[in-house]
Amino acid sequence: TSNQMWGGRFAAGPDAIMEAINASISYDQRMAPQDIAGSRAHAAMLAATGIVTDKDAETMREGLLTVLSEIEGGTFEFSTALEDIHMNVEARLKEIIGEPAGRLHTGRSRNDQVATDFKLWVRDQMDAAIEGIDALIRALLAQAEAGADWVMPGFTHLQTAQPVTWGHHMMAYVEMLGRDMSRFKDARARMNESPLGAAALAGTSFPIDREMTAKALGFDRPAANSLDAVSDRDFALEFLSCASICAMHLSRFAEELVIWSSAQFRFVTLSDRFSTGSSIMPQKKNPDAAELIRAKIGRIFGAHVALMMVMKGLPLAYSKDMQEDKEQVFDAADNLMLALAAMTGMVADMSANRPSLEAAAGSGFSTATDLADWLVRELNLPFRDAHHVTGALVAMAEGAGVDLPDLTLAQMQSVHGGITEAVFGVLGVHNSVASRMSYGGTAPAQVRAQVARWKEILA
Ligand code: ARG
Repeated sequence: TSNQMWGGRFAAGPDAIMEAINASISYDQRMAPQDIAGSRAHAAMLAATGIVTDKDAETMREGLLTVLSEIEGGTFEFSTALEDIHMNVEARLKEIIGEPAGRLHTGRSRNDQVATDFKLWVRDQMDAAIEGIDALIRALLAQAEAGADWVMPGFTHLQTAQPVTWGHHMMAYVEMLGRDMSRFKDARARMNESPLGAAALAGTSFPIDREMTAKALGFDRPAANSLDAVSDRDFALEFLSCASICAMHLSRFAEELVIWSSAQFRFVTLSDRFSTGSSIMPQKKNPDAAELIRAKIGRIFGAHVALMMVMKGLPLAYSKDMQEDKEQVFDAADNLMLALAAMTGMVADMSANRPSLEAAAGSGFSTATDLADWLVRELNLPFRDAHHVTGALVAMAEGAGVDLPDLTLAQMQSVHGGITEAVFGVLGVHNSVASRMSYGGTAPAQVRAQVARWKEILA
């Protein structure tokens, strides 16, 4: 038998393979709440404009709530023959309320319907991402505040560069995540136009009120071009783009946590709650959550690339290719939320190993720049000469197998006679970080100012 929704011109039903490749219900059932919200708004508008009677619209709106409760209660039977969530809901509505159900699709198409549902779904995920980022930023702020003056090595090329503070390092991720949050907010504001009422592609001859449905669904306005409205998936791509950049940040931090929790570094101890053991090596405590967060960027960026490829050659307006948008976005969203939550848990629970951090901060000639700056400041050397003198002192220390503060004054004076005892004041890591008072620098006072600024932003 042919399809009850569109089978009028068909003599035979679809092949089983046709049904299998065509159906999206196995995954788009996740949009049931959005589909029903969209249909309820549409029904109310059909009544307000006199396209259907108030009584029919009320029956539809009530019936749709019954369908929703069946889906939420797990008693709804999804049918692959009915392809997708839109036709599953409508078919069930017909069983419940009869004839008026057939009037619901007046002035509407599945093309504007699916675009509307998907936008509502993605919009919720943008909000969820913003919330998830907010929680992670708060966890980082707590770490930064506690460790505003804990010293640790700062790296470039993963080689010891200059001492920094733990709080400063945490706040670097706050900045990244702050940009991620603002990207999601921008994307959300841009995408918030309603496709509903674009119908199949050309609009409709019924006197619909698109402002009304747009408002009912929390959109700022109706999308202004019906062809664009049904063929636009920019909002999904922007979600995936924002998610990819955010996941990239999470991945970089995860990589640091993997390194930092190793026996060689011992910078942090991850909590038991966010670590796993080995089935053969009893001593192991592995940073699996960090590793999995590090890996999530793969599938999230993959989803972005996949949807770009789906969209890139499509002529206007709707093509069935676009049904391939949802699984990518669902998977990326699920994994981004999970990664954000896991990172938030890890950060909230982790403890910095201050003695290790401090010991590492002072090793590797990390205050060589402070020494060079001192030569400039106190002896009025040109920076290039100071750099050269300091380099010679580093070579001397390295040859003796000691760190810079372990050289004697006599040894230092053998390289430059003007050096005095006062130089040892700048070779300590605490003095080093405290001196970096330039705006955005690593000094504890600067870190505390940034923590305060962010608390205000989030308040
Ligand atoms: N399941 C479809 C999708 O996800 C719904 C839209 C179908 N429209 C159509 N004209 N076949 O894109």
